[in-house]
Amino acid sequence: MTAPVVELDKITVTYGGRLFRGEGFQAVKGISLAIAPGETVGLVGESGSGKTTLGRVCLGLQPPSAGHMRFGGAPFGRLRARRGQLSVVLQHPEWALNPRLSCGTSIEEPLMILGVGAEERRARGTEMLEAVGLGASFADRYPGQLSGGQRQRVAIARALITEPRFIVFDEAVSALDVSVQAQVLNLIRELQDQHGFGALFISHDLAATRYICHRIAVMYHGAFVEVADAARFYGVPEHPYSRKLMEAIG
Ligand SMILES: Nc1ncnc2c1ncn2[C@@H]1O[C@H](COP(=O)(O)OP(=O)(O)OP(=O)(O)O)[C@@H](O)[C@H]1O
Ligand SMILES: [Mg+2]
Repeated sequence: MTAPVVELDKITVTYGGRLFRGEGFQAVKGISLAIAPGETVGLVGESGSGKTTLGRVCLGLQPPSAGHMRFGGAPFGRLRARRGQLSVVLQHPEWALNPRLSCGTSIEEPLMILGVGAEERRARGTEMLEAVGLGASFADRYPGQLSGGQRQRVAIARALITEPRFIVFDEAVSALDVSVQAQVLNLIRELQDQHGFGALFISHDLAATRYICHRIAVMYHGAFVEVADAARFYGVPEHPYSRKLMEAIG
């Protein structure tokens, strides 16, 4: 069996706590989860339940206050050593894309940081523009000249160009209208089939997660109340809180 790409073991995150003074606020409470290569786990739950915090832990951006994590079967190690292996796609691509950089440059930039030469960068950038369905002509356009859906495709191309082993999508399609959402979700699914990355798909939208997630984890006040295969979950969610979320989407 292949090792999970990301493995969380009883992860707790406390904000604002000081040693010997005050308790702090536990945003994540003892969460364990393993995500396999090629698997997408949907992380759903109400605002403030700790989804983004857990995503940041997976990316090595938020040190847990307790618990352990492994990456590809090995200790997580230093973030520097993980460069290019982890990516994130956020809700607002404008946060990931510098408005003053052409889309081509934005997409290639992560390769520049890894020291890849100009010619190869350009070639792979063009390849990624094709892969996300935009085409090479978009390389010279600027984010301000694109629609929201096109910008999100550029952000996805940028996130994927280093061939990461794991990607966090944090409300990545929430700002898009429903038909554009479906296109971007299909794109993510296709790219995952080709590249085999593991993914954490954070969303408060149970209809979007249904589209691309293999498993669903329901978070409530920092803890998982249910983790289930998507097919089972969307048939009959076990936990009353999950059922409430399902009823909300009708
Ligand atoms: N840097 C921080 N310092 C202190 N508290 C924080 C910090 N970041 C988040 N929190 C708190 O931790 C809790 C979980 O926040 P988080 O952003 O993980 O929630 P979320 O599930 O992603 O919510 P949303 O759906 O609104 O994005 C919230 O109560 C939030 O106010
Ligand atoms: Mg969030």
